[in-house]
Amino acid sequence: MPVHVVILAAGKGTRMKSALPKVLHRVAGIPLLEHVLRTVRAFRPDSITVVVGHGADQIQQAFGDASDLRFVVQEPQLGTAHALLQVEPVLREAAGDVVLLYGDVPLLRPATLQTLIERHRTDGAAATLITAFVESPYGYGRILRRDGQLVRIVEERDTSPAERAIKEVNAGIYAFAIDPLFGALGSIAAQNAQGEYYLPDLIPIYRRRSLPVSTVTVADASEIRGVNSRSELAEVAALVRQKKNEELMAAGVTLIDPATTYVDVDVVVGPDTVLHPNVYLEGSTVVGAACEIQSGSRLVNARIGDRVTIRNYCVITDSTVKDDAVVGPFAHLRPGSEAGEGSHIGNFVELKKTILGPGSKASHLAYLGDATIGSNVNIGAGTITCNYDGTTKHPTIIEDGAFIGSDSQLVAPVRVGQGAYVAAGSTIVEDVPPRALGIARSRQVNKEDWVERKKNR
Ligand code: UD1
Ligand code: CA
Repeated sequence: MPVHVVILAAGKGTRMKSALPKVLHRVAGIPLLEHVLRTVRAFRPDSITVVVGHGADQIQQAFGDASDLRFVVQEPQLGTAHALLQVEPVLREAAGDVVLLYGDVPLLRPATLQTLIERHRTDGAAATLITAFVESPYGYGRILRRDGQLVRIVEERDTSPAERAIKEVNAGIYAFAIDPLFGALGSIAAQNAQGEYYLPDLIPIYRRRSLPVSTVTVADASEIRGVNSRSELAEVAALVRQKKNEELMAAGVTLIDPATTYVDVDVVVGPDTVLHPNVYLEGSTVVGAACEIQSGSRLVNARIGDRVTIRNYCVITDSTVKDDAVVGPFAHLRPGSEAGEGSHIGNFVELKKTILGPGSKASHLAYLGDATIGSNVNIGAGTITCNYDGTTKHPTIIEDGAFIGSDSQLVAPVRVGQGAYVAAGSTIVEDVPPRALGIARSRQVNKEDWVERKKNR
């Protein structure tokens, strides 16, 4: 029997007070909707339809590459029942069941969807919904039962004081047999505090028509948490991070303080790596085994080899650091950079689109941009590649074993040959041949007894 998933993501998300559609807000590196989609894909449905409306263009743009998604536009947005009704043209002829979820409920597990559809089918229900018991039910639709049977759902704004105390809530996740669904949706009225067409109002309609309705109660209520405000976004993000950190620790990574370690969901970290407090590993970052990432460092789409030390307060973006290298403290690797095996990048060194070869060192205060630097090169303190002439960027090449004296400027395009030396304080504007010394500074003059003469003047 086919299962068709529908994800509602058309609402305005008023309580977010944001120009960005709610489902595009990120949690641990990926949008809320992507969290939901990953759960749905693991459940392997026959089709996935996303109902969009508010910010539809932005959402379709963000997920346009996903060929397994079908988008349906709800305009205007008149409530959750109205939203589901918009998929009638694409699912009316389909057989089987619809599983409906909300794009703002990111913690749901695939196993729970499996339990939902199994219960729905064994009970022969026309509709089955997920409920949970929560300590603070504020904001959720409350589950009203008589003799254990679900009677109806009342939304927060429509509750009486007695109903407000009910702790069993509607998760907003349902299975529906397609057959009676769309006909019944049309008979929902918008008689409530918000003047919207509420999907939960389908329940009393089904009861009147003697269509069987079932429920599944999840044990872990955190799974069904919805994001309606920035505050809930932060709470959900904390839960996602906690889960990710638990996975890392189970895989052999030491987190000195998991509460202040921020690792995006797609990040991979090898065993025996130690993450210090206030470390941020973001995007598609991969960290190898036995590394140490010290406090205050932020790695975005970085590839870090094995046994690498990233000392305090480094920023590494779209760059690679190879095995046994040491970076920082206070180093900045900008996109397209690479620190070779066993290389050393010290404090206040900035790399941009620069390759530093194996065993090479830039230990202090340097700017290396658009440079290709060979192996075992020594870059002295204060070295600057002058890569920009105000119009165009130019490359610098420093060959294997070269030595760049402190406070040198290499005006690109320029090449320093293999094993060559650049004298400290030089402004190099011409290539330095292999094994030569390039020196470009004025000669020192010492004026004997100058101090004495100054006094007598
Ligand atoms: C909804 C449920 C409530 C449940 C809660 C669980 C209704 C009326 N209420 O309340 O019983 O406890 O979820 O999280 O269903 N949406 C549309 N089009 C619309 C309106 C909403 O696509 O016209 C989408 C929203 O983008 C969102 C989802 O439906 O993803 C839920 O809407 P929201 O306004 O957040 O409903 P809640 O008040 O949370
Ligand atoms: Ca919601």
